[in-house]
Amino acid sequence: MHVPNTRFSVLSEDFAADPYRHFARLRERTPVHYEPGIDSYFLSRHEDVKRVLTDHEGFTTETLQVRAEPVMRGPVLAQMTGAEHTAKRKIVVRAFTGQALHEQIRAIRANAVELMAPFLARGRMDLVNDFGRPLAVHVTLDVLGLERRDWRQVAAWNGGVAEFITSMALTPERRRHCLDCAERLEAYLLPVIEQRRRHPGDDLISKLCTAEFDGIAMSDRDVTALIINVLVAATEPADKTLALLFKHLIDHPEQLAQVRRDPELLAAAIAETLRHTPPVQLIPRRAERETVFAGGAAVPAGATVFCMIGAANRDPAAFADPDTFDIHRPDLGTARSFTAAAQHLSFGTGLHQCVGAAFARAEIETVAAMLLPLLDQVRHSPGPRYRESGLYTRGPVALSLDFTPVHLGERDLASTP
Ligand code: HEM
Repeated sequence: MHVPNTRFSVLSEDFAADPYRHFARLRERTPVHYEPGIDSYFLSRHEDVKRVLTDHEGFTTETLQVRAEPVMRGPVLAQMTGAEHTAKRKIVVRAFTGQALHEQIRAIRANAVELMAPFLARGRMDLVNDFGRPLAVHVTLDVLGLERRDWRQVAAWNGGVAEFITSMALTPERRRHCLDCAERLEAYLLPVIEQRRRHPGDDLISKLCTAEFDGIAMSDRDVTALIINVLVAATEPADKTLALLFKHLIDHPEQLAQVRRDPELLAAAIAETLRHTPPVQLIPRRAERETVFAGGAAVPAGATVFCMIGAANRDPAAFADPDTFDIHRPDLGTARSFTAAAQHLSFGTGLHQCVGAAFARAEIETVAAMLLPLLDQVRHSPGPRYRESGLYTRGPVALSLDFTPVHLGERDLASTP
């Protein structure tokens, strides 16, 4: 049975300010932490988290029916199981790997050049708000085949959808706002879906519209849910990962110098960034039966369980010296870090492991390889103290960087490595 812990709360401001300070104590003392305010259990040990994410019968994604379905306007990929899940997942995977990925890298570069150009001559850029966030949205709109000129509007609706999914408690006003965003996004997408059914192109929406599953085409509701699923899943963590990568490298100048000398190390730096500070911190599941975890604590059948990815990735049972950022750590393995064999859990694991891992790696690697040679003498700008926010997804609120101003045209930029 759980032992109520009245002093510590993952919902406290103290925890929100820096969750990493609390993870060791949680893993050691209350690896199954009960949070009475939201009647949920938080698991922090690597072994327990891995067990939950791979025991698909014991722990289901039923939690998403209330957490995601109302704003996705239909069932999302992570809610599905069996043949339906395999078939629909394959469609999405195919759109983000192989030849499709090759072409997307070109689009990523073009988007990056356009967005960074105005900031280079100033010698100052907020890597989250000026660059990373718009880039993540632009790139995803390109892949989906949506108009880039609508990006601010789509990003705002997408923000409401993400807020709904990642909030621990929403006021009735915020809830209404989030649902309103979802309805508007759906209304924006429906005519596009109709048009792609008549005139399919090479984009993901066309592929979803024309794909068949057991001889039956996907309904508008299915396609809408998958589009919103991809939109949120692909944009939320991307800018956070890019900003965290730069923060860690700037804070570890010797590792930054090594990556500058040998850009092949970038993939290792991205993998270590994901392990050290995963942008997706929580993955929810529902326990289908009573389960006893490491240390003897149990969760009852029907309980909501949150896997704490940040805590699991820093479990000394999984990684040596886990609080240290080290791009050379031998226990991570760069290539496998973006596959089902990953030792870190930042892309989840098991059936619902992220379909966008290869795409995310290509996106961040392409953009970081372009930025690093341009951002000479890169350093934190003077000003407000660095701050992260978010319990469910977490990343820097801003990352203002100073560097030696660069005077290049877009054409020169396009030919940078
Ligand atoms: C650094 C970037 C990313 C991180 C850290 C990340 C993280 C995750 C995590 C933790 C899950 C598992 C959720 C669960 O088990 O319930 C997931 C699932 C998913 N991700 Fe990502 N993601 C990233 C980028 C992307 C991108 C670029 C896409 C674009 C396609 C994407 C699409 C998805 C989808 C569709 C799922 C649901 C898969 C399923 O249920 O079968 N993600 N992601």
